[in-house]
Amino acid sequence: MSRKNAVMALGMALGMAAFVACSGGDAGSQEAASGAMAEGQETAAAEVEQQMELPEGVTMEMVNQGQEVYAGAGLCYVCHGAEGQGMPGLGANLTDDEWVHGDGSFDALVATVMDGVDSGASTTGTAMPPKGGSGISDEQVRQVAAYVWTLSQ
Ligand code: HEC
Repeated sequence: MSRKNAVMALGMALGMAAFVACSGGDAGSQEAASGAMAEGQETAAAEVEQQMELPEGVTMEMVNQGQEVYAGAGLCYVCHGAEGQGMPGLGANLTDDEWVHGDGSFDALVATVMDGVDSGASTTGTAMPPKGGSGISDEQVRQVAAYVWTLSQ
């Protein structure tokens, strides 16, 4: 089989597998599947916890709640992107280890999120309002800072 055909065959096989996985089964097996996924996520979280030493005062629970704040009430995704990858002309990339404001430590992240970034200090000229303008609680700021901290590790 030529290389091109082999690639096509592989593509088709993957497509079939995805089709079977998506269309397959009754509600029961779907529940089982999502249960397995939740389990997988918990395992992943435990692995992350093992791999990186969280800053003092930060728990994995805070990180998980922070992820919800990021993608929800905190409105962070609006300017920093769903994956924290940044948005041209708006918020900076939060997944790399280059920090424009502060040193990337947990405390610095809390401070930046709490105070926002002045338009004069922003490299894009766009200001980040305190707490992203979302009005989240101080507790939620600490949670979302914990989540952002993990993004760059
Ligand atoms: C209105 C748009 C906007 C929203 C909403 C927003 N930010 Fe920002 N953020 C910015 C801008 C603009 C900067 C400065 C970027 C620059 O200087 O290049 C920034 C900078 C940051 C930085 C510093 C990045 C660095 O490289 O030093 C962090 C951390 C951060 N934001 C976290 C958050 C979090 C967490 C939230 C949600 C609570 C949030 N931001 C919501 C616009 C926003």
